[in-house]
Amino acid sequence: MMVCEYKPGLEGIPAAQSSISHVDGQKGILEYRGIRIEELAEKSSFLETAYLLIWGELPSKEELEAFEYEVRYHRRIKYRIRDMMKCFPESGHPMDALQASAAALGLFYSRRDLHNPAYIRDSVVRLLATIPTMVAAFQLMRKGNDPVRPRDDLDYSANFLYMLNEKEPDALAAKIFDICLILHVEHTMNASTFSARVTASTLTDPYAVVASAVGTLGGPLHGGANEEVIQMLEEIGSVENVRPYVDNLLQRKAKIMGFGHRVYKVKDPRATVLQNLAEQLFAKFGHDKYYDIALEMEQVVAEKLSGKGIYPNVDFYSGLVYGKMGIPTDLFTPIFAIARVAGWLAHWKEQLAENRIFRPTQIYNGRHEIPYIPIDQR
Ligand code: ACO
Repeated sequence: MMVCEYKPGLEGIPAAQSSISHVDGQKGILEYRGIRIEELAEKSSFLETAYLLIWGELPSKEELEAFEYEVRYHRRIKYRIRDMMKCFPESGHPMDALQASAAALGLFYSRRDLHNPAYIRDSVVRLLATIPTMVAAFQLMRKGNDPVRPRDDLDYSANFLYMLNEKEPDALAAKIFDICLILHVEHTMNASTFSARVTASTLTDPYAVVASAVGTLGGPLHGGANEEVIQMLEEIGSVENVRPYVDNLLQRKAKIMGFGHRVYKVKDPRATVLQNLAEQLFAKFGHDKYYDIALEMEQVVAEKLSGKGIYPNVDFYSGLVYGKMGIPTDLFTPIFAIARVAGWLAHWKEQLAENRIFRPTQIYNGRHEIPYIPIDQR
């Protein structure tokens, strides 16, 4: 067997062959099934993009209508899931609530028929349809309210915002939210997708696959960074404070949240689209002083770190967009998960098509031949 050099974080090591998405980190290009994300953000919808990623081709009009119909009519969650969520502590993080709820779905659908296309489609529909309902339900229940029933007359994103706020959303906000989901839906072999593929490779059910990926997405070095960006902008408080704040972080060798990426060495193309969406929202709903702080920050960080290829990533502007929509900060990462479920499911399906269980090796650097010392002699 060929022995490879150990790379912490598996940097640069292919973990799978995949035709789902492609990143060119030097040119700042992201494609889903070969289509640039800027084009999908402008012309597609989240569900159409999800279909593209999972089944490999853009759907025909009839295929898309059928898919949208199925997702629309599977949005309700079982009362037992709702009652279980009611018992979660209000102080718990919504990502933990989502991870537990996604895993609990598997209790209701324990049959694993992984080679049956109908099973795969049902699972895809159920997960895409119910994850937003779970996120919204936890948000209402932790405030002491009953969850709101999904509205069948609203499309995917508008329905989520409706369930969250108990009122029909503004059309521009719903459209922008849908674009945000498109931008977050898939991103090659990131930590949560790797997690999803490792779990999928054991031939467990898709609910365990998604629960495992949700747990991985929650960390501050991955999806959790969007929350920390807003906390950071609030802490900075004014444009004048940006430079000393950044200097202080760099002196302490601390990471600046929302900047840097393992693959992109230029500005993340998703950050560019999100920045544009934020500006559209500010034009309609009023300016946000944190945007001025963010702009200054982008400039100061570029001055100091562009030599290392450190630029804004997807998490830098997404929080400003969600914040302007009135979404609580700790729901930013669950919203990321709502989108990314489609990407994880595309990888689940691809992994199943040519599965080999993940079983990497390690470089043992521990001791050998150590005698056992009885407890009374230690
Ligand atoms: N702020 C300051 N310096 C940074 C940052 C940052 N955000 N990111 C990387 N660097 C520096 C490192 O200090 C290091 O410098 P050195 O070579 O002088 O020691 C160099 O750039 C390489 O950094 P690594 O940590 O080795 O890069 P890695 O590829 O492992 O990390 C990561 C990528 C985790 C995204 C990192 O940039 C980071 O922690 N960013 C902040 C958290 C964040 O925004 N995460 C969201 C990423 S996007 C997503 O997951 C959806």
